Amino acid sequence: MPTVDDAPFSDQSVRVDFVEAFWPTHKLAKQVLYVLGSTAPFQLYIGGIRSGKTWALTLKELMLCITHPGVNGMLAGRTGRDNATTLIPQFMDHCDTWRRAVGYTPYRRYHRGDKRVEFWNGSSLYFRPYDQPDKLRGITLGHAGLDEIDYGSQPAYTWDVVAGRMSDARVGKGKCLHGATTPNGLRGVAGKFVRMQDSKAFIAFHTTIYDNPFLTSSFIEDLRMSYSPRAWEQEGLGKILRPRDVIFTEYSEARHLVDWTWRRDLPWVLGVDWGTSAAAAVAIQVLPDGTWVIADELVVQDTSYVRFRAVLAAWIESKPNRPVLAVSDRAVKSEKLWLAAKYAHQCEVTSCKTKRDQSLIRGIEMLRFMLDPPFERGHPFLVDPDAPPERPRPKLLVSSSLASNPTQSEGPLGTRDALNTYTYRRGPFGELTNDPSDAPDDPAKHILDTIRMAAVMSAWRSELHGGQPSRFVWEDRRAA
Ligand SMILES: Nc1ncnc2c1ncn2[C@@H]1O[C@H](COP(=O)(O)OP(=O)(O)OP(=O)(O)O)[C@@H](O)[C@H]1O
Ligand SMILES: [Mg+2]
Repeated sequence: MPTVDDAPFSDQSVRVDFVEAFWPTHKLAKQVLYVLGSTAPFQLYIGGIRSGKTWALTLKELMLCITHPGVNGMLAGRTGRDNATTLIPQFMDHCDTWRRAVGYTPYRRYHRGDKRVEFWNGSSLYFRPYDQPDKLRGITLGHAGLDEIDYGSQPAYTWDVVAGRMSDARVGKGKCLHGATTPNGLRGVAGKFVRMQDSKAFIAFHTTIYDNPFLTSSFIEDLRMSYSPRAWEQEGLGKILRPRDVIFTEYSEARHLVDWTWRRDLPWVLGVDWGTSAAAAVAIQVLPDGTWVIADELVVQDTSYVRFRAVLAAWIESKPNRPVLAVSDRAVKSEKLWLAAKYAHQCEVTSCKTKRDQSLIRGIEMLRFMLDPPFERGHPFLVDPDAPPERPRPKLLVSSSLASNPTQSEGPLGTRDALNTYTYRRGPFGELTNDPSDAPDDPAKHILDTIRMAAVMSAWRSELHGGQPSRFVWEDRRAA
Protein backbone atom coordinates (compact mmCIF):
# COMPACT_ATOMS: atom_id res chain seq x y z
CA MET A 1 0.00 0.00 0.00
CA PRO A 2 1.65 3.30 -1.04
CA THR A 3 1.69 6.21 1.39
CA VAL A 4 1.96 9.86 0.52
CA ASP A 5 5.64 10.00 1.35
CA ASP A 6 6.78 7.18 -0.85
CA ALA A 7 4.52 7.72 -3.85
CA PRO A 8 6.39 9.82 -6.41
CA PHE A 9 3.45 11.80 -7.73
CA SER A 10 5.40 14.02 -10.04
CA ASP A 11 5.92 11.51 -12.82
CA GLN A 12 3.97 8.46 -11.78
CA SER A 13 0.33 7.81 -11.35
CA VAL A 14 -1.29 5.41 -8.92
CA ARG A 15 -3.88 2.97 -10.20
CA VAL A 16 -6.81 2.65 -7.87
CA ASP A 17 -9.92 0.66 -8.53
CA PHE A 18 -12.51 3.17 -7.48
CA VAL A 19 -15.32 0.74 -7.05
CA GLU A 20 -13.18 -1.64 -5.09
CA ALA A 21 -12.10 1.16 -2.79
CA PHE A 22 -15.68 1.88 -1.83
CA TRP A 23 -17.09 -1.57 -2.13
CA PRO A 24 -15.83 -3.23 1.05
CA THR A 25 -17.35 -0.60 3.32
CA HIS A 26 -20.41 0.26 1.29
CA LYS A 27 -22.70 -2.04 -0.56
CA LEU A 28 -22.97 0.27 -3.51
CA ALA A 29 -26.37 0.41 -5.05
CA LYS A 30 -26.34 -0.59 -8.68
CA GLN A 31 -27.29 2.92 -9.69
CA VAL A 32 -24.18 4.32 -8.08
CA LEU A 33 -22.08 2.09 -10.30
CA TYR A 34 -23.85 3.49 -13.32
CA VAL A 35 -23.31 7.01 -12.02
CA LEU A 36 -19.59 6.47 -11.58
CA GLY A 37 -19.25 4.83 -14.97
CA SER A 38 -21.21 7.33 -17.01
CA THR A 39 -19.31 9.84 -19.11
CA ALA A 40 -22.34 11.86 -20.24
CA PRO A 41 -21.63 15.60 -19.89
CA PHE A 42 -24.97 16.22 -18.15
CA GLN A 43 -26.21 13.89 -15.44
CA LEU A 44 -29.06 14.00 -12.98
CA TYR A 45 -29.54 11.77 -9.94
CA ILE A 46 -33.20 11.98 -9.20
CA GLY A 47 -34.68 10.05 -6.35
CA GLY A 48 -36.55 9.83 -3.09
CA ILE A 49 -35.33 11.27 0.17
CA ARG A 50 -32.48 9.36 1.80
CA SER A 51 -31.97 7.37 -1.37
CA GLY A 52 -28.28 8.21 -1.66
CA LYS A 53 -28.39 11.18 -4.04
CA THR A 54 -25.94 13.34 -2.12
CA TRP A 55 -23.76 10.33 -1.49
CA ALA A 56 -23.51 9.62 -5.23
CA LEU A 57 -23.04 13.28 -6.13
CA THR A 58 -20.12 13.82 -3.78
CA LEU A 59 -18.48 10.53 -4.71
CA LYS A 60 -18.72 11.27 -8.41
CA GLU A 61 -17.18 14.69 -7.85
CA LEU A 62 -14.31 13.13 -5.88
CA MET A 63 -13.72 10.76 -8.77
CA LEU A 64 -13.72 13.62 -11.26
CA CYS A 65 -11.24 15.62 -9.17
CA ILE A 66 -8.85 12.71 -8.89
CA THR A 67 -9.01 11.71 -12.52
CA HIS A 68 -8.65 15.21 -14.02
CA PRO A 69 -5.32 16.75 -12.95
CA GLY A 70 -5.19 20.51 -12.78
CA VAL A 71 -8.90 21.01 -13.41
CA ASN A 72 -11.18 22.91 -11.06
CA GLY A 73 -14.43 21.44 -9.84
CA MET A 74 -17.28 22.69 -7.71
CA LEU A 75 -19.78 21.17 -5.33
CA ALA A 76 -22.69 23.46 -4.64
CA GLY A 77 -25.62 23.24 -2.27
CA ARG A 78 -28.40 25.78 -2.03
CA THR A 79 -26.72 27.78 0.73
CA GLY A 80 -23.38 27.94 2.50
CA ARG A 81 -25.11 26.30 5.41
CA ASP A 82 -26.22 23.33 3.28
CA ASN A 83 -22.62 22.95 2.19
CA ALA A 84 -21.37 23.01 5.76
CA THR A 85 -23.94 20.54 7.06
CA THR A 86 -24.17 18.02 4.24
CA LEU A 87 -21.85 18.38 1.27
CA ILE A 88 -18.54 19.03 3.00
CA PRO A 89 -18.97 16.31 5.68
CA GLN A 90 -20.16 13.79 3.09
CA PHE A 91 -17.26 14.62 0.80
CA MET A 92 -14.76 14.35 3.65
CA ASP A 93 -16.33 11.05 4.60
CA HIS A 94 -15.62 9.73 1.10
CA CYS A 95 -12.04 11.00 1.36
CA ASP A 96 -11.73 9.09 4.59
CA THR A 97 -13.03 5.90 3.00
CA TRP A 98 -10.50 6.42 0.26
CA ARG A 99 -7.70 6.89 2.78
CA ARG A 100 -8.60 3.69 4.58
CA ALA A 101 -8.71 1.75 1.32
CA VAL A 102 -5.75 3.25 -0.50
CA GLY A 103 -3.49 4.41 2.29
CA TYR A 104 -3.35 8.15 1.80
CA THR A 105 -5.73 11.08 1.85
CA PRO A 106 -6.69 11.98 -1.68
CA TYR A 107 -6.18 15.70 -1.15
CA ARG A 108 -3.20 17.79 -0.14
CA ARG A 109 -4.95 20.43 1.91
CA TYR A 110 -8.38 21.76 2.79
CA HIS A 111 -8.41 25.57 2.78
CA ARG A 112 -11.11 26.22 5.30
CA GLY A 113 -11.50 29.98 4.78
CA ASP A 114 -11.64 29.57 1.03
CA LYS A 115 -13.84 26.45 1.20
CA ARG A 116 -11.47 24.83 -1.25
CA VAL A 117 -9.94 21.37 -1.36
CA GLU A 118 -6.55 21.23 -3.04
CA PHE A 119 -5.60 17.88 -4.55
CA TRP A 120 -2.20 16.32 -5.07
CA ASN A 121 -2.68 16.43 -8.81
CA GLY A 122 -3.10 20.19 -8.90
CA SER A 123 -6.86 20.28 -9.19
CA SER A 124 -9.08 22.19 -6.78
CA LEU A 125 -12.62 21.60 -5.60
CA TYR A 126 -14.64 24.63 -4.52
CA PHE A 127 -17.63 24.44 -2.21
CA ARG A 128 -20.00 27.24 -3.17
CA PRO A 129 -23.68 28.04 -2.56
CA TYR A 130 -25.84 28.50 -5.65
CA ASP A 131 -28.65 30.53 -4.11
CA GLN A 132 -27.37 33.56 -6.01
CA PRO A 133 -26.37 31.93 -9.29
CA ASP A 134 -25.01 35.12 -10.81
CA LYS A 135 -22.24 35.14 -8.21
CA LEU A 136 -20.89 31.96 -9.85
CA ARG A 137 -20.20 33.73 -13.11
CA GLY A 138 -16.52 34.45 -12.51
CA ILE A 139 -15.31 30.90 -12.05
CA THR A 140 -13.92 28.45 -14.64
CA LEU A 141 -14.76 24.80 -14.12
CA GLY A 142 -14.29 21.42 -15.70
CA HIS A 143 -16.92 19.63 -13.65
CA ALA A 144 -19.49 20.54 -11.04
CA GLY A 145 -22.16 18.94 -8.87
CA LEU A 146 -25.32 20.72 -7.69
CA ASP A 147 -27.26 19.25 -4.77
CA GLU A 148 -31.07 19.43 -4.43
CA ILE A 149 -31.07 21.57 -7.52
CA ASP A 150 -34.82 21.59 -8.14
CA TYR A 151 -35.41 23.05 -4.69
CA GLY A 152 -33.28 26.11 -5.35
CA SER A 153 -34.93 29.40 -6.21
CA GLN A 154 -34.22 29.29 -9.98
CA PRO A 155 -33.23 25.71 -10.86
CA ALA A 156 -33.09 25.89 -14.66
CA TYR A 157 -31.37 29.26 -14.63
CA THR A 158 -28.78 28.10 -12.08
CA TRP A 159 -28.12 25.01 -14.18
CA ASP A 160 -27.57 27.13 -17.30
CA VAL A 161 -25.26 29.56 -15.50
CA VAL A 162 -23.09 26.71 -14.20
CA ALA A 163 -23.17 24.97 -17.59
CA GLY A 164 -21.77 28.22 -19.01
CA ARG A 165 -18.84 28.02 -16.58
CA MET A 166 -17.73 24.60 -17.84
CA SER A 167 -15.05 25.93 -20.11
CA ASP A 168 -11.88 24.45 -18.65
CA ALA A 169 -10.23 23.01 -21.76
CA ARG A 170 -7.92 20.72 -19.78
CA VAL A 171 -10.79 18.50 -18.81
CA GLY A 172 -11.21 17.34 -22.41
CA LYS A 173 -13.99 14.83 -22.82
CA GLY A 174 -14.43 14.50 -19.05
CA LYS A 175 -16.59 17.61 -18.76
CA CYS A 176 -19.45 16.83 -16.43
CA LEU A 177 -22.22 18.86 -14.90
CA HIS A 178 -24.22 16.69 -12.55
CA GLY A 179 -27.05 17.38 -10.19
CA ALA A 180 -28.97 15.54 -7.49
CA THR A 181 -32.51 16.26 -6.49
CA THR A 182 -35.76 15.04 -5.09
CA PRO A 183 -38.20 15.75 -7.92
CA ASN A 184 -40.42 18.79 -7.69
CA GLY A 185 -42.66 18.34 -10.67
CA LEU A 186 -41.98 18.44 -14.35
CA ARG A 187 -40.14 21.71 -14.31
CA GLY A 188 -36.73 23.06 -13.46
CA VAL A 189 -33.85 20.72 -14.14
CA ALA A 190 -35.98 17.55 -14.07
CA GLY A 191 -38.16 19.17 -16.76
CA LYS A 192 -35.06 19.96 -18.79
CA PHE A 193 -33.86 16.34 -18.62
CA VAL A 194 -37.25 15.04 -19.66
CA ARG A 195 -37.23 17.36 -22.66
CA MET A 196 -33.69 16.30 -23.56
CA GLN A 197 -34.24 12.59 -23.09
CA ASP A 198 -33.47 11.81 -26.71
CA SER A 199 -30.05 13.42 -26.42
CA LYS A 200 -27.11 11.19 -25.50
CA ALA A 201 -25.54 14.10 -23.63
CA PHE A 202 -28.23 14.00 -20.95
CA ILE A 203 -28.61 11.02 -18.67
CA ALA A 204 -30.69 10.60 -15.55
CA PHE A 205 -30.42 7.99 -12.80
CA HIS A 206 -33.36 7.21 -10.64
CA THR A 207 -33.34 5.81 -7.12
CA THR A 208 -35.96 5.23 -4.48
CA ILE A 209 -35.60 5.17 -0.74
CA TYR A 210 -35.71 1.35 -0.96
CA ASP A 211 -32.42 1.37 -2.90
CA ASN A 212 -30.50 2.56 0.12
CA PRO A 213 -29.30 -0.63 1.80
CA PHE A 214 -28.48 1.21 4.99
CA LEU A 215 -32.01 2.05 6.01
CA THR A 216 -34.00 -0.52 7.96
CA SER A 217 -37.40 -1.47 6.68
CA SER A 218 -39.02 -0.28 9.90
CA PHE A 219 -37.44 3.15 9.47
CA ILE A 220 -38.77 3.36 5.93
CA GLU A 221 -42.19 2.13 7.02
CA ASP A 222 -42.42 4.76 9.79
CA LEU A 223 -41.46 7.43 7.32
CA ARG A 224 -44.02 6.20 4.81
CA MET A 225 -46.80 6.43 7.36
CA SER A 226 -46.00 10.07 7.97
CA TYR A 227 -46.66 10.98 4.32
CA SER A 228 -49.84 11.05 2.30
CA PRO A 229 -49.79 8.39 -0.46
CA ARG A 230 -49.21 11.09 -3.05
CA ALA A 231 -46.44 12.78 -1.12
CA TRP A 232 -44.81 9.40 -0.64
CA GLU A 233 -44.68 8.81 -4.39
CA GLN A 234 -42.71 12.01 -4.77
CA GLU A 235 -40.65 12.07 -1.61
CA GLY A 236 -40.03 8.37 -1.06
CA LEU A 237 -40.12 6.93 -4.54
CA GLY A 238 -38.77 10.01 -6.27
CA LYS A 239 -41.50 10.13 -8.90
CA ILE A 240 -42.00 13.27 -10.89
CA LEU A 241 -45.50 14.43 -9.99
CA ARG A 242 -47.18 17.75 -10.17
CA PRO A 243 -45.42 20.07 -7.68
CA ARG A 244 -47.02 19.81 -4.27
CA ASP A 245 -47.95 23.44 -4.06
CA VAL A 246 -49.67 23.74 -7.43
CA ILE A 247 -53.19 25.17 -7.37
CA PHE A 248 -54.82 23.88 -10.54
CA THR A 249 -54.37 20.18 -9.82
CA GLU A 250 -57.45 19.56 -12.03
CA TYR A 251 -55.62 20.74 -15.13
CA SER A 252 -54.05 18.02 -17.22
CA GLU A 253 -52.78 18.41 -20.75
CA ALA A 254 -54.23 14.99 -21.58
CA ARG A 255 -57.72 16.10 -20.62
CA HIS A 256 -57.84 19.83 -21.35
CA LEU A 257 -55.86 20.37 -24.52
CA VAL A 258 -57.84 20.47 -27.78
CA ASP A 259 -56.88 21.03 -31.39
CA TRP A 260 -58.56 24.28 -32.19
CA THR A 261 -58.87 26.58 -35.17
CA TRP A 262 -60.62 29.89 -34.79
CA ARG A 263 -64.36 29.72 -35.51
CA ARG A 264 -65.86 32.97 -36.68
CA ASP A 265 -69.38 31.68 -35.91
CA LEU A 266 -68.64 31.57 -32.18
CA PRO A 267 -68.61 34.50 -29.79
CA TRP A 268 -65.44 35.26 -27.94
CA VAL A 269 -64.48 36.92 -24.68
CA LEU A 270 -61.43 39.12 -24.30
CA GLY A 271 -59.51 39.30 -21.01
CA VAL A 272 -56.73 41.84 -20.45
CA ASP A 273 -54.22 42.40 -17.67
CA TRP A 274 -52.41 45.74 -17.95
CA GLY A 275 -48.83 46.14 -16.91
CA THR A 276 -45.40 47.37 -17.91
CA SER A 277 -43.03 44.65 -16.73
CA ALA A 278 -45.58 42.15 -18.06
CA ALA A 279 -48.95 42.48 -19.78
CA ALA A 280 -51.26 39.77 -21.06
CA ALA A 281 -54.48 39.10 -22.95
CA VAL A 282 -56.56 36.04 -23.82
CA ALA A 283 -59.15 35.28 -26.47
CA ILE A 284 -61.69 32.74 -25.27
CA GLN A 285 -64.12 31.22 -27.74
CA VAL A 286 -67.43 30.08 -26.30
CA LEU A 287 -69.28 27.00 -27.60
CA PRO A 288 -73.09 26.89 -27.54
CA ASP A 289 -73.06 24.45 -24.61
CA GLY A 290 -71.04 26.90 -22.52
CA THR A 291 -67.65 25.25 -22.97
CA TRP A 292 -64.83 27.80 -23.07
CA VAL A 293 -61.79 27.30 -25.25
CA ILE A 294 -58.78 29.48 -24.66
CA ALA A 295 -58.05 29.97 -28.32
CA ASP A 296 -55.28 32.53 -28.30
CA GLU A 297 -53.09 34.46 -25.91
CA LEU A 298 -50.84 37.48 -25.91
CA VAL A 299 -48.03 37.71 -23.38
CA VAL A 300 -45.69 40.68 -23.49
CA GLN A 301 -42.67 41.39 -21.33
CA ASP A 302 -41.15 44.83 -20.64
CA THR A 303 -43.50 47.16 -22.43
CA SER A 304 -45.20 50.50 -21.84
CA TYR A 305 -48.93 51.24 -21.69
CA VAL A 306 -48.75 53.01 -25.02
CA ARG A 307 -46.82 50.28 -26.77
CA PHE A 308 -49.11 47.59 -25.38
CA ARG A 309 -52.17 49.47 -26.68
CA ALA A 310 -50.82 49.14 -30.21
CA VAL A 311 -49.90 45.47 -29.82
CA LEU A 312 -53.22 44.63 -28.22
CA ALA A 313 -55.32 46.47 -30.80
CA ALA A 314 -53.47 44.76 -33.66
CA TRP A 315 -53.95 41.39 -31.99
CA ILE A 316 -57.68 41.95 -31.48
CA GLU A 317 -58.09 43.19 -35.01
CA SER A 318 -56.33 40.12 -36.39
CA LYS A 319 -59.32 38.03 -35.28
CA PRO A 320 -62.06 37.56 -37.87
CA ASN A 321 -64.76 38.83 -35.49
CA ARG A 322 -64.96 41.22 -32.51
CA PRO A 323 -65.38 40.02 -28.91
CA VAL A 324 -68.81 40.10 -27.26
CA LEU A 325 -67.32 40.92 -23.89
CA ALA A 326 -64.04 42.60 -22.94
CA VAL A 327 -62.91 42.39 -19.33
CA SER A 328 -59.83 44.16 -18.05
CA ASP A 329 -58.00 44.75 -14.82
CA ARG A 330 -59.58 47.67 -12.98
CA ALA A 331 -56.35 48.91 -11.44
CA VAL A 332 -55.13 50.94 -14.41
CA LYS A 333 -57.79 53.51 -15.09
CA SER A 334 -56.28 55.15 -18.18
CA GLU A 335 -56.02 51.86 -20.05
CA LYS A 336 -59.46 50.73 -18.95
CA LEU A 337 -60.90 53.93 -20.39
CA TRP A 338 -58.91 53.54 -23.59
CA LEU A 339 -60.29 50.04 -24.10
CA ALA A 340 -63.83 51.23 -23.48
CA ALA A 341 -63.45 54.18 -25.86
CA LYS A 342 -62.16 51.89 -28.57
CA TYR A 343 -64.53 48.94 -28.30
CA ALA A 344 -67.60 49.93 -26.25
CA HIS A 345 -69.65 50.54 -29.40
CA GLN A 346 -69.01 46.94 -30.46
CA CYS A 347 -69.21 44.98 -27.24
CA GLU A 348 -69.62 45.20 -23.49
CA VAL A 349 -66.40 46.51 -21.95
CA THR A 350 -66.10 46.03 -18.23
CA SER A 351 -63.81 45.25 -15.31
CA CYS A 352 -64.21 43.82 -11.84
CA LYS A 353 -66.36 46.24 -9.88
CA THR A 354 -66.79 44.87 -6.39
CA LYS A 355 -64.28 43.43 -3.99
CA ARG A 356 -66.08 40.12 -4.41
CA ASP A 357 -65.51 40.16 -8.19
CA GLN A 358 -61.91 41.00 -7.57
CA SER A 359 -61.44 38.17 -5.06
CA LEU A 360 -58.57 35.97 -6.14
CA ILE A 361 -59.81 32.91 -4.30
CA ARG A 362 -63.31 33.18 -5.68
CA GLY A 363 -62.07 33.58 -9.26
CA ILE A 364 -59.69 30.67 -8.93
CA GLU A 365 -62.50 28.51 -7.57
CA MET A 366 -64.55 29.35 -10.62
CA LEU A 367 -61.74 28.27 -12.95
CA ARG A 368 -61.24 25.03 -11.03
CA PHE A 369 -64.95 24.46 -11.22
CA MET A 370 -64.86 24.87 -15.00
CA LEU A 371 -61.77 22.68 -15.38
CA ASP A 372 -63.41 19.84 -13.49
CA PRO A 373 -67.17 20.39 -13.14
CA PRO A 374 -68.84 18.42 -10.37
CA PHE A 375 -71.47 15.76 -11.12
CA GLU A 376 -74.91 17.16 -11.88
CA ARG A 377 -77.55 16.60 -9.26
CA GLY A 378 -79.41 13.41 -10.17
CA HIS A 379 -76.43 12.13 -12.20
CA PRO A 380 -76.74 8.33 -12.44
CA PHE A 381 -73.43 7.96 -10.65
CA LEU A 382 -74.81 9.69 -7.59
CA VAL A 383 -78.09 7.78 -7.63
CA ASP A 384 -76.78 4.39 -8.63
CA PRO A 385 -73.32 3.68 -7.31
CA ASP A 386 -72.85 0.89 -9.86
CA ALA A 387 -73.27 3.16 -12.87
CA PRO A 388 -69.94 3.94 -14.50
CA PRO A 389 -68.73 7.23 -13.05
CA GLU A 390 -68.27 9.14 -16.27
CA ARG A 391 -66.89 12.49 -15.28
CA PRO A 392 -68.65 15.58 -16.60
CA ARG A 393 -66.72 17.10 -19.48
CA PRO A 394 -64.54 20.11 -18.65
CA LYS A 395 -66.06 23.53 -19.30
CA LEU A 396 -62.65 25.09 -19.80
CA LEU A 397 -60.34 23.83 -22.52
CA VAL A 398 -57.07 25.11 -23.91
CA SER A 399 -55.99 25.17 -27.54
CA SER A 400 -52.98 22.94 -28.15
CA SER A 401 -51.58 25.63 -30.43
CA LEU A 402 -50.67 27.76 -27.41
CA ALA A 403 -46.96 27.60 -26.66
CA SER A 404 -45.55 25.72 -23.69
CA ASN A 405 -42.00 25.78 -22.42
CA PRO A 406 -41.75 24.02 -19.05
CA THR A 407 -38.17 25.12 -18.49
CA GLN A 408 -38.73 28.82 -19.09
CA SER A 409 -37.03 30.50 -16.17
CA GLU A 410 -37.73 34.16 -16.83
CA GLY A 411 -40.63 36.36 -17.80
CA PRO A 412 -44.39 35.88 -17.77
CA LEU A 413 -45.80 32.46 -18.63
CA GLY A 414 -48.39 31.44 -21.18
CA THR A 415 -51.69 29.81 -20.22
CA ARG A 416 -50.51 26.19 -20.31
CA ASP A 417 -47.40 26.68 -18.21
CA ALA A 418 -49.26 29.04 -15.87
CA LEU A 419 -52.01 26.47 -15.20
CA ASN A 420 -49.35 23.86 -14.61
CA THR A 421 -47.24 25.88 -12.23
CA TYR A 422 -49.33 28.51 -10.43
CA THR A 423 -48.73 27.89 -6.76
CA TYR A 424 -49.79 28.80 -3.28
CA ARG A 425 -47.72 31.39 -1.53
CA ARG A 426 -44.93 30.28 0.77
CA GLY A 427 -44.67 31.69 4.28
CA PRO A 428 -41.54 33.22 5.80
CA PHE A 429 -40.17 29.81 6.74
CA GLY A 430 -40.86 28.28 3.36
CA GLU A 431 -44.07 26.62 4.56
CA LEU A 432 -47.08 26.39 2.26
CA THR A 433 -49.98 28.74 2.95
CA ASN A 434 -53.54 28.55 1.67
CA ASP A 435 -53.26 31.85 -0.17
CA PRO A 436 -52.70 31.78 -3.90
CA SER A 437 -49.58 33.66 -4.86
CA ASP A 438 -50.41 37.32 -5.45
CA ALA A 439 -46.92 38.66 -6.01
CA PRO A 440 -46.82 41.09 -8.94
CA ASP A 441 -43.75 39.30 -10.27
CA ASP A 442 -45.34 35.84 -10.18
CA PRO A 443 -44.81 34.66 -13.76
CA ALA A 444 -48.08 32.72 -13.85
CA LYS A 445 -50.30 35.48 -12.50
CA HIS A 446 -50.76 37.78 -15.48
CA ILE A 447 -52.33 35.38 -17.92
CA LEU A 448 -54.38 33.64 -15.23
CA ASP A 449 -55.75 37.02 -14.10
CA THR A 450 -57.12 37.61 -17.59
CA ILE A 451 -58.94 34.27 -17.63
CA ARG A 452 -60.13 34.60 -14.08
CA MET A 453 -61.58 38.08 -14.60
CA ALA A 454 -63.23 37.05 -17.85
CA ALA A 455 -64.86 34.09 -16.09
CA VAL A 456 -66.07 36.04 -13.07
CA MET A 457 -67.44 39.00 -15.02
CA SER A 458 -69.29 36.75 -17.46
CA ALA A 459 -70.83 34.43 -14.89
CA TRP A 460 -74.31 35.95 -15.15
CA ARG A 461 -74.42 36.09 -18.94
CA SER A 462 -76.36 32.96 -19.87
CA GLU A 463 -75.39 33.01 -23.55
CA LEU A 464 -71.79 32.55 -22.46
CA HIS A 465 -72.55 29.58 -20.24
CA GLY A 466 -74.78 27.29 -22.24
CA GLY A 467 -78.11 29.04 -21.78
CA GLN A 468 -78.10 29.76 -18.07
CA PRO A 469 -75.82 31.69 -15.74
CA SER A 470 -72.66 29.79 -14.89
CA ARG A 471 -73.36 26.88 -12.59
CA PHE A 472 -70.69 28.35 -10.45
CA VAL A 473 -73.02 31.24 -9.67
CA TRP A 474 -75.56 28.86 -8.15
CA GLU A 475 -72.98 26.93 -6.19
CA ASP A 476 -71.43 30.16 -5.08
CA ARG A 477 -74.77 31.54 -3.87
CA ARG A 478 -75.63 28.30 -2.14
CA ALA A 479 -72.32 28.47 -0.29
CA ALA A 480 -72.74 32.13 0.58
N1 LIG B 1 -24.59 3.60 -1.90
C1 LIG B 1 -24.43 3.91 -0.62
N2 LIG B 1 -23.53 3.27 0.09
C2 LIG B 1 -23.39 3.58 1.35
N3 LIG B 1 -24.07 4.45 2.04
C3 LIG B 1 -24.98 5.10 1.40
C4 LIG B 1 -25.21 4.87 0.03
N4 LIG B 1 -26.17 5.68 -0.35
C5 LIG B 1 -26.52 6.35 0.75
N5 LIG B 1 -25.81 6.01 1.80
C6 LIG B 1 -25.99 6.54 3.15
O1 LIG B 1 -27.37 6.74 3.32
C7 LIG B 1 -27.64 7.98 3.91
C8 LIG B 1 -28.52 8.83 3.00
O2 LIG B 1 -27.84 9.15 1.81
P1 LIG B 1 -27.83 10.58 1.17
O3 LIG B 1 -27.72 11.63 2.21
O4 LIG B 1 -26.88 10.57 0.06
O5 LIG B 1 -29.30 10.55 0.60
P2 LIG B 1 -30.10 11.71 -0.08
O6 LIG B 1 -30.90 11.05 -1.13
O7 LIG B 1 -29.19 12.80 -0.47
O8 LIG B 1 -31.02 12.14 1.11
P3 LIG B 1 -31.73 13.55 1.42
O9 LIG B 1 -33.02 13.46 0.73
O10 LIG B 1 -31.85 13.50 2.92
O11 LIG B 1 -30.83 14.63 0.93
C9 LIG B 1 -26.31 8.65 4.18
O12 LIG B 1 -26.02 8.47 5.54
C10 LIG B 1 -25.33 7.90 3.31
O13 LIG B 1 -24.10 7.79 3.95
MG1 LIG C 1 -29.19 14.88 -0.03
